[in-house]
Amino acid sequence: MTIDDARKEFPALQNQVFLDSACVSLPPQRATDKLRAFLDMAASCPSGNASQQHLDMDARRSAARAPLAKLINAGEDDIALMESTTHGLSLVADAIPLQRGDRVVVCDLEFVAVAIPWVQKRQETGIEIDIVPNRNGQLLIEDIDAAITARTRVVAISSVQWNNGFLCDLDALSRLCRERGVFLIADAIQQIGAIPLDVQKTPVDAIACGGHKWLMAPFGCGFLYLSKEFRDRVKPPLAGYLSEVEPEGGWAAYFETPTIKPVRDYDFVPNARRWEIGGTANYPGAIALAESVGLINEIGIGKVGEHVLCLTDYLIDSLQQQGVEIVTPLDRRNRSSIVTFTLGDVKKNVALLDYLQQRKVLVSLRYTSSIGGLRVACHLFNNREDIGRLAEVTGEFLRRGAKATG
Ligand SMILES: Cc1ncc(COP(=O)(O)O)c(C=O)c1O
Repeated sequence: MTIDDARKEFPALQNQVFLDSACVSLPPQRATDKLRAFLDMAASCPSGNASQQHLDMDARRSAARAPLAKLINAGEDDIALMESTTHGLSLVADAIPLQRGDRVVVCDLEFVAVAIPWVQKRQETGIEIDIVPNRNGQLLIEDIDAAITARTRVVAISSVQWNNGFLCDLDALSRLCRERGVFLIADAIQQIGAIPLDVQKTPVDAIACGGHKWLMAPFGCGFLYLSKEFRDRVKPPLAGYLSEVEPEGGWAAYFETPTIKPVRDYDFVPNARRWEIGGTANYPGAIALAESVGLINEIGIGKVGEHVLCLTDYLIDSLQQQGVEIVTPLDRRNRSSIVTFTLGDVKKNVALLDYLQQRKVLVSLRYTSSIGGLRVACHLFNNREDIGRLAEVTGEFLRRGAKATG
């Protein structure tokens, strides 16, 4: 599968310029086909056996873990399917035993979901949160290092920042956290699916990632990666019934056994699945997610990464030619598939967003801690024509503005 072939899986690109995967991506045709087939099956129970259909749906959902593991070079046992990034981050925060006076490091560019669980813990337990300020949109490892004290237990960070696309040096941060004995928790929803992340090369304790952005899945199914070392050191969430090791003879036979009792000793699965909610789950979400991730794996995440970075080079160049200010730090080592630019003030940015939307060029407007602007997301299905059109419409808008004020 080549990048050019992949674009054919997104028919909606024929009548719009979609540069907004950092918000909610378009799913590929293969995912929506699978979803339709799933709904037909759920509506008709073709097997004539609802119990069996339930088990089949569990098995089909479970198949999503393998492509996710492949994408980040993890073991399947390290992957738990989750509703969202937020869900994964909350479970992880809850699992780490913290006491009054323990400290957590968070940066000031973060999306709210990264901070909220720690703020709740601060209210409940009396932990402290140390906030590392960005430097003109950059998060420096030396600043994080300086914020770590003897009481620091956790660094929680987005590997790519949602508002300006800053890609943090996760290798250096991983080394730092291991040296200092601190848990490293990453929110990688703005990275995984576009920019490679290999957990063998870059050990991270836990990574939360929703499915609806760069993984191009429909809503309500993402994943949580948990390293074995992390799982061994923390308290897992309360178990759901599917966290139990499957009884001998399988679940179907188990539930048909007259003598079963609910209160007994259970053996829980010794892997990340233990962290899943563990009841009847979001089957369509997982089935479609597996398809979307399968497409990324077929192309190869390395090729996707090269493609999106080339597009962002072209984008930065094209926007600079229009005279707009690039907010995203320009050093390529910290660049991702997101580029943010500004016309200088919020009002002008809102007006340009509106102008672009009217011409079917989709981007978003995002800020945190006064850093942000128009956020452009370049995914595997985008091409240079998309970028050219964005730059052309932006230039047109600026010339109209100049005429109106000139
Ligand atoms: C960095 C980051 N984390 C988390 C989220 C929320 O993701 P979810 O809806 O999967 O919890 C977003 C969404 O914009 C995000 O940009």
